[in-house]
Amino acid sequence: MTSQTLREARKHEEMMEVHIAPKDRPAFHLSPRVGWMNDPNGFSYYKGEYHLFYQYHPYDSFWGPMHWGHAVSKDLLHWEYLPAALAPDMPYDKDGCFSGSAVTLSDGSQLLLYTGVMKEPQADGSFRDVQTQCVAIGDGRDYEKALDNPVLTEKDLPEGGSRYDFRDPKVWLGEDGVYYCVVGNCTENHDGQILLYSSADGLHWKYESILAKNNGRFGRMWECPDFFALDGKRVVLTSPQDMLPEGFEYHNGNGTLCLIGDFDKNKKTFSEEYNQAVDYGIDFYAPQTILAPDGRRIMIGWMQNWDTCNMRNQPKSWFGQMSLPRELSIKNGRLYQSPVRELDELRCNKVEHKDVLVNGLVRLKGVEGRLVDMELQIRPVDKAQMFQKFAVRFAQDEIHHTAISFRPMESILKVDRKFSGSRRAIIHQRRSMINHEEGKLKLRVILDRLSVEVFVNDGEQVMTATIDTPQDAGGISFFADGNVMVDVVKYDIKDIDR
Ligand code: FRU
Repeated sequence: MTSQTLREARKHEEMMEVHIAPKDRPAFHLSPRVGWMNDPNGFSYYKGEYHLFYQYHPYDSFWGPMHWGHAVSKDLLHWEYLPAALAPDMPYDKDGCFSGSAVTLSDGSQLLLYTGVMKEPQADGSFRDVQTQCVAIGDGRDYEKALDNPVLTEKDLPEGGSRYDFRDPKVWLGEDGVYYCVVGNCTENHDGQILLYSSADGLHWKYESILAKNNGRFGRMWECPDFFALDGKRVVLTSPQDMLPEGFEYHNGNGTLCLIGDFDKNKKTFSEEYNQAVDYGIDFYAPQTILAPDGRRIMIGWMQNWDTCNMRNQPKSWFGQMSLPRELSIKNGRLYQSPVRELDELRCNKVEHKDVLVNGLVRLKGVEGRLVDMELQIRPVDKAQMFQKFAVRFAQDEIHHTAISFRPMESILKVDRKFSGSRRAIIHQRRSMINHEEGKLKLRVILDRLSVEVFVNDGEQVMTATIDTPQDAGGISFFADGNVMVDVVKYDIKDIDR
């Protein structure tokens, strides 16, 4: 039975979506059908389609009572909106259906495991959110909340685990035929931890272990955990709140963390070998992965930053977008990311310039546009006379540009959107340490209408930023202080008709 609250949300989104022109949305990154979007939820492959749900407030372009928006796709780039899947309509989730995930059950139905939020009055008159894990089962279109909800409550917490920060379950079917999920949690003094649970049927859950603990290192509460095997290792992804920067890592406040290591099957704990940020740009949070039918581990994140998301240039009826889906792998103890190969199918109008000498400002014939996939191979003309700086500017006209600049002597790559059209005093630059062989660097720059994603050295690092630049600012130019040789391969990306 669809509740009145969900029916209203569905009616609202159907009525209001016509007021958003396709040209005002990203072309190949998912944006909310209407209103506000944050975390990706329930990323799954079900009945021959990719499903992506999202944290959704259909009635406003700011965060509010959380619903789940819903879209499906065959290729992870063309998304078709479906009616909202969940609304906060039960006593145990009346203050929000927070983040969660999806898995296929043995009878062929799809299970959504999500966090129900209920405000609890405190002795001092304030309110705090109590968080539990809840289930809804459906057919890929409509979902019925389980009568047994909530299925995980404070009773299922380890000693000292906070009932106020217990959220974002990520579920999967283990090779042993048992369902598992990891849930974000913290101790009473706000130190993040990830809890592991198991279930025979997806409805009845058992506490297993504290899979991983922060021990005061990376931020405070750990949100949106994920846990999976990749290239012979185990990976924990999580989004810690309130991070402190460490050198060039973890500059985003609420940031992303990737831990690479192993799993101790007896203790059911993760042992960590390496840590790194997932994205080194400005706008990336709460990623979630899927194991695609062809074996690829694909990750998608919310292309935003919690600290700046309310600082808008001007009022807008919708807000929020997802990152490109990215294929993951591990090389030399690092997480590598590359845009899903489906993007190659959308490339057209190839323009190639080989061995271009850049010293000062250079523009190249046919290299321009705002829906762009561009590969750059950069090298010094003479290693003995290393260049000071190389930069590429894009989304450019007389007033605007966004730049990526490389300083080989400092091994620094910078993304700078100061002149992208932002009228707000928010963070506009991010620097990252990168690897290069004596000034040799490979970049793949992907532009959609409202974003740039830079894949460095075949995905060894990624820097992501949103930009709010008028679409007719379509210039691309190159600049070098010193002598730089560049190979440029540039494609347009076909606009997607919705
Ligand atoms: C992360 C997050 C989650 C929560 C959701 C609420 O961005 O704070 O922990 O489930 O957003 O919308």
